[in-house]
Amino acid sequence: MLILGLNMFHADASVAIIVDGEVKFAIAEERLNRHKHFGGFPALAVKACLDAVGAKISDVEHVAVGQDSDANLAKKVQYALANPAKILNFIRLRQRKEALRDVRALLSNALEIDPAKLRFQEHHLEHHIAHIASAYYCSPWEKAAGFSYDGSGDFVSTMMARCEGNQIEVLERVFLPHSLGSAYTMICEFIGYTKYGDEGKVMGLAPYGKETYSRDISKIVTPKNGGFQLDLSYFKPLGSNQGMQVLPDGTVRLARHYSDRMEKLFGEPRKPHAEITQRDMDLAFALQHQFEEIFFHLINQLQRRVPLDDLAMAGGCALNSVANGKIFDRTPFRRTYIQPAAGDEGLAIGAALHTHHAVLNQPRRRELKNSYLGPEFCESRIQAALEKAGLQPRKLEREALLQQTAEQIAAGNVVGWFQGRMEWGPRALGNRSIVAHPGLPNMKDVLNARIKHREWFRHFAPSIMADYQHEYFEHDHPSPFMLHVYKIRPEKRKVLCAVNHVDDTGRLQTVTREENPLYYDLISAFHRKTGIPVILNTSFNENEPIVCTPEEAIDCFQRTRMDVLAIGPFMVKKPEANV
Ligand SMILES: [Fe+2]
Repeated sequence: MLILGLNMFHADASVAIIVDGEVKFAIAEERLNRHKHFGGFPALAVKACLDAVGAKISDVEHVAVGQDSDANLAKKVQYALANPAKILNFIRLRQRKEALRDVRALLSNALEIDPAKLRFQEHHLEHHIAHIASAYYCSPWEKAAGFSYDGSGDFVSTMMARCEGNQIEVLERVFLPHSLGSAYTMICEFIGYTKYGDEGKVMGLAPYGKETYSRDISKIVTPKNGGFQLDLSYFKPLGSNQGMQVLPDGTVRLARHYSDRMEKLFGEPRKPHAEITQRDMDLAFALQHQFEEIFFHLINQLQRRVPLDDLAMAGGCALNSVANGKIFDRTPFRRTYIQPAAGDEGLAIGAALHTHHAVLNQPRRRELKNSYLGPEFCESRIQAALEKAGLQPRKLEREALLQQTAEQIAAGNVVGWFQGRMEWGPRALGNRSIVAHPGLPNMKDVLNARIKHREWFRHFAPSIMADYQHEYFEHDHPSPFMLHVYKIRPEKRKVLCAVNHVDDTGRLQTVTREENPLYYDLISAFHRKTGIPVILNTSFNENEPIVCTPEEAIDCFQRTRMDVLAIGPFMVKKPEANV
């Protein structure tokens, strides 16, 4: 049975295809059209999914969309009536959504096929149920607590659920305008991070700050009964789209979230690219602190209602890996499954799997253990791309490729590592990665200045052989999708200085041989040379969506000061490389 899952006309538009309950291919449109966080219709991703399984759209039996404009309608109407200025906006938004709901027309247009040939049944699933579904149905568990939180989706910002067998039972919703994600975005904007998706940067800035504003920020977002509430006087009224607008060309734009009251309290907002002051760092600190307070308040409530060890979690806020890393210290949950595409691209998988299990009552399949669900490219395509770019690569056998790449990393070179299928979700996990030595004191600055062109405080992540996690980190719960930040053990901080953040933590990726043999063996080869079972891993890109094709990787290699490119079986070195 073929099911296509879609996230469309929403940030991070994406498509997933599942065949007999197994996710075969999934990709965000941004990777194909190179338009970061693209929020239009994912036409290229639909084609890529169908091509990947050799199917036509007329073969597809179900199409599931991770959005339902009818969900929580009463709450939306109630909100619009209480805010008369918003009624017109609400009606316009609703009309637009109605037009966009015609999935049949959208697909037949995109694929240039007669709509009469489409035989699929259409399903619309509420945003946060799709998030929880994306985590739970990919998890290994037969029952779990389900949790989703983000800026907003279908008028909800937070959802708690009991997941059992094939069903997801919603226990609680937090409705707009109360949104932990929006509170995070509001303060990010105030300190000059105004783009969609900038929240991760502020999370990295937070440990440089002090407690100065913790009391002030704790008044903006406070726990309330089982949920939380915002003090709306700090926010501009955002409407039912919670300040996120998708322009006709698919660009996602954020409206200003903070009100004048923020300026009265904290002074002038920082302009993007202006110098970061202690005030900004202290606000980031207080924000992350309060975010964690509310998060743990919520999931402890959830655990009391669903007293299990296992937590299946998604939603854009579930990308807050610092909070995720503290779950085992601050709640009774003992295991987490956080979907690799925890943000909105994950809705495509969630909607499709929900249709398979909850709607069609089909049995569960195996756990989704890795994120390698994207395209791969054959050797001849890679070779042609290298030749076209005027490069003369050396072709190496597997063992030689591993040994020589490890040698390059050990010598302090920055290596582009392009192998196998592209990752699903925002993290590069060893197939579209830039890798480097984790123990060289200047490596962070070298990468930020030479390749990534980003702020001094942005740090880098370690990929570690799973067998060594407990020796290097204070927690041994695996982090296969780079979604947990743990303390690095004191005796290992120097050895991992390039991936040790200012608060002695690392956002690790646990690598097993079963899930990525080539990448595991690369780290292992580096381990044999240096005694360190870890390499620094950052995404293969330069302020753009992560590279997808060999041509994009080669282009990125040529325009940045990367030293070495290991692409498929080929290796290319720049003359300035160390060895
Ligand atoms: Fe979401």
